[in-house]
Amino acid sequence: MTLSDMKIRPAKNDDIDAVIRITRANGHFWTPEVDGSEALARILERDNNLFLVYDDGKVQGFVLGTWDGARAYIHKISVHPDIKTKGIGTLLVAHAIEFFRNIGAPTVAVAAADGTRDEEEDSTGFWKKVGFEPIPARLMIHFDVQKEIEP
Ligand SMILES: CC(C)(COP(=O)(O)OP(=O)(O)OC[C@H]1O[C@@H](n2cnc3c(N)ncnc32)[C@H](O)[C@@H]1OP(=O)(O)O)[C@@H](O)C(=O)NCCC(=O)NCCS
Repeated sequence: MTLSDMKIRPAKNDDIDAVIRITRANGHFWTPEVDGSEALARILERDNNLFLVYDDGKVQGFVLGTWDGARAYIHKISVHPDIKTKGIGTLLVAHAIEFFRNIGAPTVAVAAADGTRDEEEDSTGFWKKVGFEPIPARLMIHFDVQKEIEP
């Protein structure tokens, strides 16, 4: 284990503010229901969720994911803009893969922004560098789940 590896550790409730700060710094805070403190605290409460942080004295990066017993997904990775392209993202992905390997997952998928909306958001080059291959699929989302179940 290298010194950098020792900077990756499971997230704790105390890390949540820092995680939100990183998400905001990257312009990826979408909605409190998904990215806010209560949502992040729920991730920490549940089994088989991946939530790791990069902590070099200050939490500067994180990775989130889940395992449903058949498929493993990385939902989000974010490294503070001040320390990008120093290998932290690669390190977080390596630890995420190790987490899923140990839990028995055969594959790990990620929903990667492909730059269709904004070229600046294209992260597919990063994912290819850390061993992921594109597949012919598109992430789609239903935005009104709660609205539909209201009486
Ligand atoms: C994507 C992200 C996690 C990469 O983290 P990082 O610490 O900068 O990544 P690394 O330093 O480990 O980069 C590994 C390699 O990927 C390259 N890379 C990094 N981001 C890239 C991007 N968006 N597109 C193409 N290549 C990229 C690096 O230049 C490096 O290349 P090298 O091996 O030739 O030096 C980080 O840029 C980030 O937080 N972006 C904003 C959030 C985001 O887009 N998340 C992904 C969608 S879930």
